[in-house]
Amino acid sequence: MPFDPTDAQDVYKDAGKNVLFTTLTINKSNPDEDREKVAELVSREQAILRSMNIRYPEEHLKVSFGFANSAWDYLFADYKKPQELEDFQPVKGPKYTSPATPADLFIHIRANSEAVVYEVASQIRNYYRDFTTVQDETKGFRYFEGRAIIGFVDGTENPEVQKASAYAIIGDEDPDFENGSYAFAQKYIHNMDAWNALKTEDQEKAIGRKKYSDLELEDDEKLENAHNVASQDNDDGIEHKIVRMNVPFSNPSEGTTGTYFIGYARHWSVTKRMLENMFGQSDRLLDFSDPVTGNMFFIPSLTTLDQIVEDKLPAK
Ligand code: HEM
Repeated sequence: MPFDPTDAQDVYKDAGKNVLFTTLTINKSNPDEDREKVAELVSREQAILRSMNIRYPEEHLKVSFGFANSAWDYLFADYKKPQELEDFQPVKGPKYTSPATPADLFIHIRANSEAVVYEVASQIRNYYRDFTTVQDETKGFRYFEGRAIIGFVDGTENPEVQKASAYAIIGDEDPDFENGSYAFAQKYIHNMDAWNALKTEDQEKAIGRKKYSDLELEDDEKLENAHNVASQDNDDGIEHKIVRMNVPFSNPSEGTTGTYFIGYARHWSVTKRMLENMFGQSDRLLDFSDPVTGNMFFIPSLTTLDQIVEDKLPAK
């Protein structure tokens, strides 16, 4: 089957204006019963999306739904597994560690209006509430000009939308799971007081770009561990890319402000190397950003979702 972005979930475009990230663990009482419940959840979720997209086409509603390795092993033990699906393990650097936290299922919803995000999320909840536990729910938003909450435009070096699918979607290297994707989700809390206390020039050296104009600094102007140096994956001399759709979140009165990092990749190994580089080189951004969750999910294609609904995943 040829590579087909229309068979993929919403993994390669639109970070969205209003965003909701939900991670769930399955209560794991009986795999056969839970597999049926998950099939019902997937079938309903797809129907809710179709209905909302017909009713509100201008809303740019986008949803991705995924499974962690722990869920796949529990639900689909007799079936084939996506080649790169594995437990996310903590990534340890000399100063900072990226933690691995519990999650089986992942839902990433975004739309222009918060009302649509709410409606979709609350309808889907009816089909997971009785067999799962919510691990995290984070409401993100588009900040001015698509900037990260630390004030820098976020996503500039993402692949352009016409090319993004090739970086986000699995190809014929894994034919049973073609048009799927690997998502890495990580919630960071920023020390905004310390970040805001830096001079703009020092923030720019830390990110590797100009704050106002978003122009990239020359290499010798950047810190050695600037974020746009430390996060790159140039394995084999090739600049590998993923599709990032980070958004800020905040409870301003509490002073809790952060970035929800979400990256979709054709190859999980690319995102993993980016993390190993960031934590291995003590990325300057990490001095102001504390990772509090860490999860990797397989985001099936629409074909694979149908196979889950019909209990027809390819057998081992
Ligand atoms: C604290 C959370 C994070 C924030 C606020 C953040 C923000 C940014 C910003 C502002 C840029 C520069 C503009 C751009 O090219 O998009 C950037 C670049 C980038 N970030 Fe992050 N990022 C975060 C975490 C991560 C993580 C966890 C990864 C990898 C797993 C990552 C990978 C990248 C990559 C690959 C680039 C492009 C580098 C280049 O080629 O120039 N970021 N990020």
